[in-house]
Amino acid sequence: MATHNLLLLPGDGIGPEVMAQVKRVIEFFNKKGPDKFKTEEALVGGCCYDAHGVAITDAAMDKAKAADAVIFGAVGGPKWDAVPYDVRPEAGLLRLRKDLDLYANLRPAVTYPALADASSLKRELVEGLDIMILRELTGGVYFGEPKTITDLGNGQKRAIDTQVYDTYEIERIARVAFDLARKRRNKLTSMEKRNVMKSGVLWNEVVTQVHAREYKDVELEHQLADSGGMNLVKWPKQFDVIVTDNLFGDMLSDIAAMLTGSLGMLPSASLGEINVKTKKRKALYEPVHGSAPDIAGSGAANPIAMIASFGMALRYSFDMGGLADKVDSAIAAVLAKGLRTADIRSEGTIAVSTTEMGEAILKEVQALHG
Ligand code: IPM
Ligand code: MG
Repeated sequence: MATHNLLLLPGDGIGPEVMAQVKRVIEFFNKKGPDKFKTEEALVGGCCYDAHGVAITDAAMDKAKAADAVIFGAVGGPKWDAVPYDVRPEAGLLRLRKDLDLYANLRPAVTYPALADASSLKRELVEGLDIMILRELTGGVYFGEPKTITDLGNGQKRAIDTQVYDTYEIERIARVAFDLARKRRNKLTSMEKRNVMKSGVLWNEVVTQVHAREYKDVELEHQLADSGGMNLVKWPKQFDVIVTDNLFGDMLSDIAAMLTGSLGMLPSASLGEINVKTKKRKALYEPVHGSAPDIAGSGAANPIAMIASFGMALRYSFDMGGLADKVDSAIAAVLAKGLRTADIRSEGTIAVSTTEMGEAILKEVQALHG
C-alpha cells in the first residue's frame, strides 16, 4: 500500500473550517484504502504572522518541499490589513508558489446540473459548462522586479509593478495548456493584451510557435484578455481550455467561478515540472475562494471547493482518477439532493452548514467507495 505525505495548511478565516471537512474524507480513505495519506499540519498566513512574525516559516517551507502534495485552505483578513507588506498573509501563499515553482495553475469551472440556476447568468448559458482556466502562476506582474513605491520628494509617490515574461515561462505553460486541451475537447484559447503590452506580444508569439512546432492537431485561437472576459460571460461554452498570465488568470478565474454558481465551488491545482528521475511533481491544491473573514466561524462556508481540491490532488498527484471521480460524483449527488450552503442557496433547497455539507459528501463517498 502506497503512502502519500500531505502537508495541510488550513490558514485563516474559513480555511480551517473547510479543511476540517477534507480531513474527514482523508480519514475515511485511510481506513478504506487503497492508499494511505500521512498528514502534517503547519501555519500559514495571518495566523502564522501572529505566532512567528512571518506569513510562513522556513520550517513549514521545508515541510512543503518534502511533501508529496500541499493542501491549502485560505489566507488573509482585515485583522492583518496593517501588517508590513513583506509579511502580509498573502506573502505565505506567494512564497509557496514561487519557491516550489508551481507555475501551472489549473482552475476548472464546471457547472453542476443542480446548480445551473444558482449562477448569475441564465441557465442556458451555463448548463453543462466545463471549462479549464490555466493560469501562469510564478511569473508576470506578481513577481516582476522592480516592485516599489518611491517617495518623489514633492508630495508625490511613484508605484511600480513590473510585468515580465521570458520565452521559457510562456513555452512551459503553453505546453501544459495544449496537453490539457488534447485530453479534453482539443481547443485552446490564449488570452493576453498584445495591443498594449510587450509581454502580450511575446506571449502571443511564443504560444503561436509552440502550436506550430508541437501541437498542430489542437485548435488554437487568441483573444485579447478584455474581450475574453466579455466572452466568458456572453457565451462561456465557446471555451475549452483558456491559457493566460498570472494577473489576467486571477481575474478571469474569479469570473469563471461565478458561472458555476459560487466562488465556493471552484477548486484548483498548482503544479510544478515533472522530475524526470522521480516522475513526481511538486503540487499545491487550494480552493479559489479566499478566507471570507465575514462568515468565518459562522458555519456558513461552503466546503465543496476545498473537498474538490483534494479530489484534484488524487487525480493529479497520486494518479487516483477513479477515486477523484468518486469525490466529484459525491459532490454532484449531494447537490442533486438539494443540500445547499448559504452561498448557493435557492428556493426549495435544504439549507445546511459547513459541517453538514461535509458530512453529507462523506456519506456519499462512503457509499461509492464502500
Ligand atoms: C487567488 C488569490 C491570490 C492571488 C491572493 C490571495 C494572493 O486571489 O489565488 O486567486 O491573487 O493569486
Ligand atoms: Mg484570485
